[in-house]
Amino acid sequence: MGVLASDPGRGGTVTAAANGAAAEAPPDGDVLLDVRHLVQEFVLRDYGGAKGGVLQAVSDVSFELHVGETLGIVGETGSGKSTLARSVIQAPPPKHGQVIFQGRDLVGLPRTALKAARRNLQMVFQDPFTSLDPTWPVSRIVEEPLTAYAVGTRQERRQRVRELLDLVGLDPARHGARHPRELSGGQCQRVAVARALALEPKLILCDEPVSSLDVLVQAQVLNLFEKLRSELSLSYLFIAHDLTLVRQVSDRVAVMYLGKLCEIGPVRAIYSEPLHPYTLALLTSVPDPDPARAKRDPASVIKGELPSPLDPPSGCRFRTRCPRAADRCVVEVPELRALGAGRLVACHYPLADGSPPAERGEPHIAASSAGTSQVPAAEADI
Ligand SMILES: Nc1ncnc2c1ncn2[C@@H]1O[C@H](COP(=O)(O)OP(=O)(O)OP(=O)(O)O)[C@@H](O)[C@H]1O
Ligand code: SF4
Ligand SMILES: [Mg+2]
Repeated sequence: MGVLASDPGRGGTVTAAANGAAAEAPPDGDVLLDVRHLVQEFVLRDYGGAKGGVLQAVSDVSFELHVGETLGIVGETGSGKSTLARSVIQAPPPKHGQVIFQGRDLVGLPRTALKAARRNLQMVFQDPFTSLDPTWPVSRIVEEPLTAYAVGTRQERRQRVRELLDLVGLDPARHGARHPRELSGGQCQRVAVARALALEPKLILCDEPVSSLDVLVQAQVLNLFEKLRSELSLSYLFIAHDLTLVRQVSDRVAVMYLGKLCEIGPVRAIYSEPLHPYTLALLTSVPDPDPARAKRDPASVIKGELPSPLDPPSGCRFRTRCPRAADRCVVEVPELRALGAGRLVACHYPLADGSPPAERGEPHIAASSAGTSQVPAAEADI
């Protein structure tokens, strides 16, 4: 895991972090992907009585990913994780912001230049069955990127397909001629990984890559990812619901809520000492087999439902569910700011500050009318 140090390019100050919102760089890894103020919105029309509007799926998200690093992205369903990954690969391009990959902004690149840049940027999706063409044999699926980029002769491409299948633990002679339906879920995901590796990318965006697999196969595929990372110097953006799994594979973790980044930092620090109330709630919601530890802290139980991204709360988007929310949270958007070694948090009253604002006598939401209407009475775990 990378140890984070200050980044001279960003100044390493609170202001620089808040504006650029980038974590401090690990000393041994150059910046591979630099996402700046990314915004992705979808215009929805009124449909069947449902109100239309602009759905704010990703709102002003910035982060850096370093060479050789695995950055985990966690957050509950609908928080914008997949949209963020898709916006990075420009499918579709973001509405605002920059996606600087290998020093070049992908946003607005002409088609041919984008295709060239995308060689080094591949994606692996959750469902291996639907991400592979069911009518093609495995060898053709893996060869397809090589054909699309006119890499080598036909003979060379076939040899490369054999090497790739071998690399991901499939037997080219046995599996190459099969169709996806003739393979298990784990084998299909290996095919998807082989296809993603065909062009020797630098970065793979993994969107819930093992969620549909059983636990044993999950472990095999994760081991494969780790092996490839060290053998091929790969970097990963690793999206998953499963916090335990993200902890195992990531160097750093970014926590998303309703299209915004809540906090980002080294995995060990985030899991042992979360700074954002939402991160604490997410971690507390993980079932613990030990009944002594399974007892949950009531202060960290999340209230209510995820608000609509069509009309997100003012100020802090988490304020309608946050046990620490104060009046300031209604009116002021918390920017990501540096707090601790290599850590950034977007919260006016982070957990490191000790007791909640209400207990310190500061104006808080429960004592005023502001924002109370959006807090549903029922408490629900995520
Ligand atoms: N093409 C689209 N058109 C309209 N809305 C979309 C589109 N894609 C995503 N959304 C909306 O954007 C929000 C974020 O969706 P996204 O799929 O990125 O969330 P997620 O964090 O990946 O969720 P999950 O964990 O369930 O995969 C959701 O409200 C979703 O309905
Ligand atoms: S800014 Fe306020 S509402 Fe948002 S997480 Fe922090 S304390 Fe809670
Ligand atoms: Mg998703």
